[in-house]
Amino acid sequence: MSLMSEHVWMDGNFVPFDQAKVPVMTHTLHYGYGAFEGIRAYERSDGSSHIFRLEEHIERLFESAHILGLVIPFAQSEINQACVEVLKKNKFKSGYLRPLVYLGSEAMGLGALNNTVHVAIVSWQWGAYLGDEGLKNGIRAKISSFNRSHVNVNMVKGKICGQYVNSVIAKREALKAGYQEAIMLDTQGFVSECTGENLFMVKKGVIHTAPYGSSILGGITRNTLIQIAESLGYEVKERLFTRDELYTADEIFLCGTAAEVTPVKEVDDRQVGTGEPGQACRQIAEKFFAVVKGDDPEYPHWRMDYTLD
Ligand SMILES: Cc1ncc(COP(=O)(O)O)c(C=O)c1O
Repeated sequence: MSLMSEHVWMDGNFVPFDQAKVPVMTHTLHYGYGAFEGIRAYERSDGSSHIFRLEEHIERLFESAHILGLVIPFAQSEINQACVEVLKKNKFKSGYLRPLVYLGSEAMGLGALNNTVHVAIVSWQWGAYLGDEGLKNGIRAKISSFNRSHVNVNMVKGKICGQYVNSVIAKREALKAGYQEAIMLDTQGFVSECTGENLFMVKKGVIHTAPYGSSILGGITRNTLIQIAESLGYEVKERLFTRDELYTADEIFLCGTAAEVTPVKEVDDRQVGTGEPGQACRQIAEKFFAVVKGDDPEYPHWRMDYTLD
């Protein structure tokens, strides 16, 4: 995987990748007070390109900034357009987009109220986040010894830079223990989500996922899959559930912009269902990939088409 691209959008201008740098006194670098998004652009089977649910991602970016009390010095429509331009300028028919809102370097210390709010947008080629094999056949997950932040410890509905220490510490623990992903419980012990993915489990044909109002990030892929699952005739229940319900689930799958739809074949060394991706996961993933990569005409409002000049 290469993180390279030719051009990076910084505060309204394109700069060459190797000049897209920030001063070491950048406030967000020290304290994590900033927000970001992760967005995928796909090339479909007819050769066309689109950005998946761009407007919803940029809306969440603005919400994250608002939660932090930061005013982004661009209109939402300008950031939408800038994302399209980043892909076009880099001649990317598909790719991953990372808009980042960060505080400048005028003042240090926690109480720096007046630092400039900057926006950068970078793009790179990112394959299957949890590996091609994981995407196809499922991953091994572990319940983390770290909890997902309590809703009044961190602002869990925001995609806020510093909050990802919680995710990274859990992810590193899981990887070092030989698993591919960590499942995080909330501070009451209910299943929340993973380090960068929401989680679904299936029991007797019914799909369950933690409620939007709990400690989870309101994932755009989660919302996508709920709509797809319901249109396929599945009942989706948003409710709290415990880790032992996971142990006896027929299916578990994770979802996110990076992870797309990834089955879980094992939790805490217990096989999930048959150990193969289950029927609900397969059907939902098939529809998801047909919409984003194939030629399925449904949900056109989720796709913002663009063409390279
Ligand atoms: C903690 C967390 N949960 C869930 C998700 C999935 O969200 P989305 O589907 O909007 O990418 C992400 C990724 O953004 C995440 O970082």
